[in-house]
Amino acid sequence: MAENGGGRKPLMSGNWKMNHNHLEAIQVVQKLAIRLDDRVLDAVDVSVHPPFTGLRSIQTLIEADKLRLALGAQNCHWEDSGAYTGEVSPTMLAKLSVTYVVVGHSERRQHFDETDEMVNKKVRAVLATGMTPIMCVGETMEEREAGDAQDKVQGQVRAGLEGVSDEQVGAMVIAYEPVWAIGTGETATADDAQEMCEAIRVLVAETNGDDAAEALRIQYGGSVKPDNTAELMDQPDIDGALVGGGSLDPDDFSKIVRCQAPSD
Ligand code: 13P
Repeated sequence: MAENGGGRKPLMSGNWKMNHNHLEAIQVVQKLAIRLDDRVLDAVDVSVHPPFTGLRSIQTLIEADKLRLALGAQNCHWEDSGAYTGEVSPTMLAKLSVTYVVVGHSERRQHFDETDEMVNKKVRAVLATGMTPIMCVGETMEEREAGDAQDKVQGQVRAGLEGVSDEQVGAMVIAYEPVWAIGTGETATADDAQEMCEAIRVLVAETNGDDAAEALRIQYGGSVKPDNTAELMDQPDIDGALVGGGSLDPDDFSKIVRCQAPSD
């Protein structure tokens, strides 16, 4: 089993992005559940993040079959209700028994102009409803090549956690996803990923104290596949993965999840 530094339970999350209609989503979750037994799920938390249209179907499936999978969303607005056409509120997600909400994914920052300030509002709104934000941070290739990666990521972390209590930070998840590794087949090396995740934890220790930093779970994301998961998950400051393409197929995703479980 991959050990991490603080005895944190790993979280493996499947971010399906804009893939799988609600019928396909049901099939994928059914197949995934068959492939993950209690021994694995004792060791690893697993969440699935379908598009909004799949949430109700998957909630019903999880409840009816008592599956040990957590339901996740990919985004939300920060207001509870109002004239925001096309948006979905945190309270609506909480009502669907959503546990985790991805916030500030780089695709939302890039294509939908989400700013650090918006990400912070979303983080606080998600926490206010009792759900757990998975706050995404990461640098572009230009920023990495210019030597600015750590400043960029630490800046995003600092801004995203503004006004969040130390206790709440400790219960959160931060996903380090270098933009250049997303959907490209190019993964950060385990050393580079570890270095950045450690830098995130060090910053959180400064801003929110050692207890929050020790408890905080930090995921790596960006072209995570069955054959590169183990090495990444072996790093002391990496507590799981946020998986895009590799989570769409239940065979692949279950292999990825099992990399975090005790071996036979
Ligand atoms: P890929 O795993 O497809 O690179 O996507 C990563 C990601 O963006 C998960 O949120």
